[in-house]
Amino acid sequence: MIRKIGVLTSGGDAPGMNAAIRSVVRTALSNGIQVIGILDGYKGLIEERFIELNRSSVSNLLSKGGTILGSARLPEFANEEVLLKACEILNKNEIDALCVIGGDGSYRGALALTKHGINCIGIPGTIDNDIPGTDFTIGFDTALNTIVDCVDKLRDTSASHHRCSIVEVMGNHCGDLAIYSGLSTGAEILITPETGLDEDTVIEKLAYLEKSGKNHAIVIVSEKIVNINSLSSKISSKTGFASRVTVLGHIQRGGAPTPSDRVLASRLGEKAVDLILEGIGGHCVGIKNNSIVSTPIDEALNKPRENKKGFYRLFERLV
Ligand code: F6P
Repeated sequence: MIRKIGVLTSGGDAPGMNAAIRSVVRTALSNGIQVIGILDGYKGLIEERFIELNRSSVSNLLSKGGTILGSARLPEFANEEVLLKACEILNKNEIDALCVIGGDGSYRGALALTKHGINCIGIPGTIDNDIPGTDFTIGFDTALNTIVDCVDKLRDTSASHHRCSIVEVMGNHCGDLAIYSGLSTGAEILITPETGLDEDTVIEKLAYLEKSGKNHAIVIVSEKIVNINSLSSKISSKTGFASRVTVLGHIQRGGAPTPSDRVLASRLGEKAVDLILEGIGGHCVGIKNNSIVSTPIDEALNKPRENKKGFYRLFERLV
């Protein structure tokens, strides 16, 4: 019998996490279940920093970016000792199950807790869209919108000054933000973990664009794979474009979630609580072909994500 559940947000924050918290809280309350908000992810869990959440604690949350619970990364949560302490605290506070909103690191913690007798459900919250078991993560659509808005603005000024704009986007070794924003903005060149970087090819492509009359170019680059400053110097010295670098950084993580992220978060939060009510733990929820699904976390983490070859082919055809 489930009487009390906990909810926490962990890892990098993502717009829409608050909408997921709201959905978890309201679904649980409507089933007569008490909800405890755990502050700052697993860190707050082992420090026993809890607040009770009622209907009004989650009012006016849908449009708020960030997470009202706070978030943190706690690599030490993989240690058995830390995990046992977390279980002891959850048992002492009579928290029967947990909804964990975060990325794959957070899922591993959720799985470990489930194996120690506390049913946990993972809800995918990250702008990177790098979590298996779902087509889209909460926050991806909002971050994509932010990137597109910025790149559209950069195109205006690049075109006025005959420049090449190199734009670095987040993704943490996943190219989804880059390929989706590349397709949405009509970027000229894309550099992602999937494409890799061949500097000579980039220079050749830019030279070709110049010859064909293009007066500016947008290069979208996924973070953590290229030294963009050295790439920029090479472009400036070897092509007719003056190059400028823009690192979008954490601006991509902020802002009001898009309606699509709000709806996704609401649907996933509801499903997570429903699973807990069915006595299920160690699963993650996701959206597949617009249906809300659940997958065992260990199965999801071992599955490769859908490859985006078709997206890259389309990008090349349309450039
Ligand atoms: O996982 C989300 C993310 O924003 C990644 O895109 C990025 O690599 C990382 O977090 C940045 O982490 P931090 O906020 O700890 O610098």
